Amino acid sequence: MVILKNKHEIESIRKACQVVAECHRTIAPLIQPGITTNEIERIFEDIILKHGAKPYTKGYKGYAYATCASINDVIAHGFPSDTPLKEGDIVTIDTVAELDGWLGDSAWSYAVGNISPTVDQLLRITKECLELGIAQAQPGNRLGDVTSAIQRHAESNGFGVVRDLLAHGIGRDLHEDPNYEHVGNPGKGLRIKEGMVFTIEPMITEGTYQMTIDADGWTARTRDGKLAAQYEHTIAITSEGPQILTAQ
Ligand code: MF3
Ligand code: CO
Repeated sequence: MVILKNKHEIESIRKACQVVAECHRTIAPLIQPGITTNEIERIFEDIILKHGAKPYTKGYKGYAYATCASINDVIAHGFPSDTPLKEGDIVTIDTVAELDGWLGDSAWSYAVGNISPTVDQLLRITKECLELGIAQAQPGNRLGDVTSAIQRHAESNGFGVVRDLLAHGIGRDLHEDPNYEHVGNPGKGLRIKEGMVFTIEPMITEGTYQMTIDADGWTARTRDGKLAAQYEHTIAITSEGPQILTAQ
């Protein structure tokens, strides 16, 4: 069941989302060869705590960190570590902050130093997939309008759309209805209504969209070892259209 939010509740969610946005704004200029994802983890956690918020993923279903740090062929849910990032890597940092009982969720892919044209293209198309999806998140449209726009853009550029990890409604819980894949058909699926708050978080791959999970039970990788990228925003549907609550 989709839990609709009123304007006041959306403002509360926006506050949680803006803590996450500040984390991303802060880290963007610091990502360069040599920094470790454990250092990024500490910066994110410090910002979240400074706002009186909580790093929601720490302890969530046994996950141990405030961030997910997913490098190169890791699609999502990688663990932060002491391994320095290298020139040419892609790293996706994902975090969820809880403020006054409300949640905000955003993931962002970052290029480390100079990247190859292929990596640049993957990042650009993935960000465009998120933007095209958000543009379709209009009251009266259907989720298939959002997901088909994402799928068409990725596949027409020769990239894959991960199926096994889902976008989700969000509010007091991290994974509310609707839970949905980033693929679909125009005019199909749940109708989008004012008051819905959900994530759009396309995970786009250089090769196959199929994934495997490491023995640690979390780290999701592309099956073919090729690169993956992800951009995620939490958005609210208003009578005027989508609002990006995690806007940086
Ligand atoms: N952004 C992730 C999501 O969409 C956050 C969960 S990561 C986890 O669900 F490791 F905590 F599960
Ligand atoms: Co999410």
